[in-house]
Amino acid sequence: MHYRAPGRVNIIGEHTDYNDGFVLPTTTSAYTNVTAERRDDRQVRLRSRNLNDAKSFSLDDVATSDSPTWADYARGVAVEIEAHGIALCGADITIDGNIPIGGGLSSSASFEVGIAVALLDIAGATLPDKRIAQLCQLAEIHFAGVNCGIMDQMAIAGCERGKAMLIDCRTLHTQHADIPDHARLLVVDSGVRHLLPESDYNERATECADAVSILSRNDAGVKALRDVSVEMLESSRDELGELLFRRARHIVTENQRVLDAFDALQSADLQSLGQLVSQSHASLRDDFQISCGPVDQLVEIADTCSGTLGSRQIGGGFGGCVLCLTTDEYLDAVREQIAVEYGRISGQTPWVHVVEPSDPAGPVPKE
Ligand code: GLA
Repeated sequence: MHYRAPGRVNIIGEHTDYNDGFVLPTTTSAYTNVTAERRDDRQVRLRSRNLNDAKSFSLDDVATSDSPTWADYARGVAVEIEAHGIALCGADITIDGNIPIGGGLSSSASFEVGIAVALLDIAGATLPDKRIAQLCQLAEIHFAGVNCGIMDQMAIAGCERGKAMLIDCRTLHTQHADIPDHARLLVVDSGVRHLLPESDYNERATECADAVSILSRNDAGVKALRDVSVEMLESSRDELGELLFRRARHIVTENQRVLDAFDALQSADLQSLGQLVSQSHASLRDDFQISCGPVDQLVEIADTCSGTLGSRQIGGGFGGCVLCLTTDEYLDAVREQIAVEYGRISGQTPWVHVVEPSDPAGPVPKE
């Protein structure tokens, strides 16, 4: 059987998910493709066409590893599903895909969710999208050591074709909005890959938690940065210190931008959406500090193109892709100008992808 899981493109709401906040992702037609055949034992044999590598594991091997490999993401998914009470069966699995690894389109969550839907299906089991997302998130936390939020797995498991999905990451309540027909989302890879992205990611998560423990001394109702207003932050600025104040200010203001962006999308107001996207980048660059020089240059290039409504770093940060919001009419010119100008300063033609919000992860429909 063939399955596929899309990539995730986050329109707005960066690093808010693990702060119980709001996010507004969509999916795109860059995929992890999974072919799975059932086996009669408890061995899972994996072959990655992209990595030209093969690995195998037993479903009974439930120990986490100190130095995880790509196969541990799959093993983690299997272990979490079985821990949830579903008996899986062994499988021969082949994987390939065209989502840039480490590029901010969540190749890892796409891999996890693709493996989950395949393993469940060949075992004759089903689970709701949200449960699949939660189990894949646990796999990433326990088996890959990244204290990630739930946005990527939720979007890949459940975002509807042609739509963006507002997720309340505290309640997991979701609402969908159409992406207007004339809107175009362009993703451009800066080509920059940070050496230890997970350690910086975990550091930001720790800083947010530190801010919460200080803020909750003044207000016991503060359980997460979701519960904090800009006024509360201002009044605790000295106690927080400048670094934690800025980290928290990004999260607090970003949550509001996500809600405003959802309203803008619902009323097809692309100008306002673009402004929010650009404000998000400034906040990620200056307050949360997860951007980097080449990404800022790419955003500046995108912003100077006539027809760009807004652009920003997407994903975990420290490199990877930039999202640029434009319209049908300007798409070709913007794409061309960005490729040429960024190509000139980086010395390479960047990977440029026009987002096609696609179906969530599942079996590949028969032609
Ligand atoms: C990564 C994580 C997500 C989210 C983003 C940043 O993609 O997996 O949970 O935190 O970074 O918004």
